Amino acid sequence: WGSYISGWHGGVIHQMEKFVAFTPVQVDTEGPKLYPRVIPAGSRIWAVAVTAPTEEVAGTISSLYIRQFLIQGILIFALIGVAVVIIYYEQRWTEGLRQEVERATIKLRKSEERYRSVVERSPDFIFMVDSQGLILAANTATARAFNMPAIGLKGRSLREFFAPEDADSILNQVHFVFTTNRNVEHKGQMTIRGRTFWLSSHLVPLYGEDGRTVERVLIFARDITDRHRMEEQMARTEKLASLGTLAAGVAHEINNPLGIMLGFCEMLMDRAPKDSKEYEMLRTIERQGLNCKRIVENLMTFARTPAKSGDYADLNQEVKNVLNLVQNTLLTKKVELETHLAPNLPRVRGDSGELQQVFLNLITNAVAAMPEGGKLTVTTRLNPRSGMVEATVADTGTGIPREYVDRIFDPFFTTKKQGEGTGLGLSVSHAIVDKYGGTIRFETRTARDAGGGPTGTTFYVTLPPEVPGTAAQPAQAAN
Ligand SMILES: Nc1ncnc2c1ncn2[C@@H]1O[C@H](COP(=O)(O)OP(=O)(O)OP(=O)(O)O)[C@@H](O)[C@H]1O
Ligand SMILES: [Mg+2]
Repeated sequence: WGSYISGWHGGVIHQMEKFVAFTPVQVDTEGPKLYPRVIPAGSRIWAVAVTAPTEEVAGTISSLYIRQFLIQGILIFALIGVAVVIIYYEQRWTEGLRQEVERATIKLRKSEERYRSVVERSPDFIFMVDSQGLILAANTATARAFNMPAIGLKGRSLREFFAPEDADSILNQVHFVFTTNRNVEHKGQMTIRGRTFWLSSHLVPLYGEDGRTVERVLIFARDITDRHRMEEQMARTEKLASLGTLAAGVAHEINNPLGIMLGFCEMLMDRAPKDSKEYEMLRTIERQGLNCKRIVENLMTFARTPAKSGDYADLNQEVKNVLNLVQNTLLTKKVELETHLAPNLPRVRGDSGELQQVFLNLITNAVAAMPEGGKLTVTTRLNPRSGMVEATVADTGTGIPREYVDRIFDPFFTTKKQGEGTGLGLSVSHAIVDKYGGTIRFETRTARDAGGGPTGTTFYVTLPPEVPGTAAQPAQAAN
């Protein structure tokens, strides 16, 4: 190809540069073939030339270029457009996703807070321990019972809070959960920081990431002390009531012959010379007879003679009377006495003699529990919450061993030597307090529970106060 100057093209006459291009054409019998790749030998080849003005060729080429340029431009714009649309939608989608994640996070946080507040506000003790019994987390109720802020509990051992015996028992249960993957249920008395609770507990295994190995143990413990006390009180009342029917009959039958025996004994004693052996024997008979009479009288308390109308007493006065009675015993037994008797206490339901019997029993027991001496604290007060008058008799004695706590109100249960106690003191006291619509309960700590701390027992007696204007009406609690 190449170019030359010519003066004519398609009717236009002036000098113009022309573009000339050659191509070989094979001429054969079958006709001309353009651009044969291999020219066979002996073929005839023509050189065909094409000419056109350079302007025309350039025009055609540039319009081709322009078209291509336009197409490419449109394509690029289309591509950019599509990219922009994609980016736009992707951003919108990302934003939507971000909002959704945010919403889900807030929801999750709220639900977590809700669960946390359920756990936190729960009156039950909820805490988590590892296999060594070290606390991993605890709720407010636990912290309160353990007497330490929840945050400070982390990493501490259960042994620091539970009495040694109770800590052993819990750690055994924790060990059982770790080794068997099973839940454990337990109900019993536990001493936490010196306070005695009745707890109903559930120990639940919490698994690690593999979903199989126990990593920690969740403990839910419900304080059922009040319920347990009520159940105990009811069970005792029932027991005493059924005993009452029997006792009333027996006591009545024995009382008369006993009276006759004592009467004749007294007559014989009048006749016998005071320094004779017979007189001594008769005195022994009389002493033992009087003992029987006391037991029979005590038994008759269970017969539930109805509380009489106008059975009201000044509790402070009854307590003072009993304390006067035992003053000397306290001195000889080296028992220090402390009293806090609330002034202006309302009168309480109860017969004066019977209430004295109750406090004499409690104080005698307290003194007996302090063979080495100690401190006896007697208080009275009006409990503003319950509206009941409350009296406590507390000693610093030996405390009541676990194995006896369920039995001390049982008639004839005693740990005293034969002849020293009949085991009727507490059961009779219970029957009396019960008759007037009151309650009697105790808290105790032995050396085993206390872990080096103070030991002793406190009995709490509550009695309903006199409601002004009702003193003359028949009493109802006995029913
Ligand atoms: N304050 C106390 N401290 C330690 N143990 C106590 C206390 N009060 C009662 N007990 C235990 O409860 C048991 C029963 O007491 P309860 O008053 O019913 O009978 P008792 O004192 O043995 O005999 P009784 O009162 O008939 O003379 C006692 O033997 C004692 O073991
Ligand atoms: Mg007693």
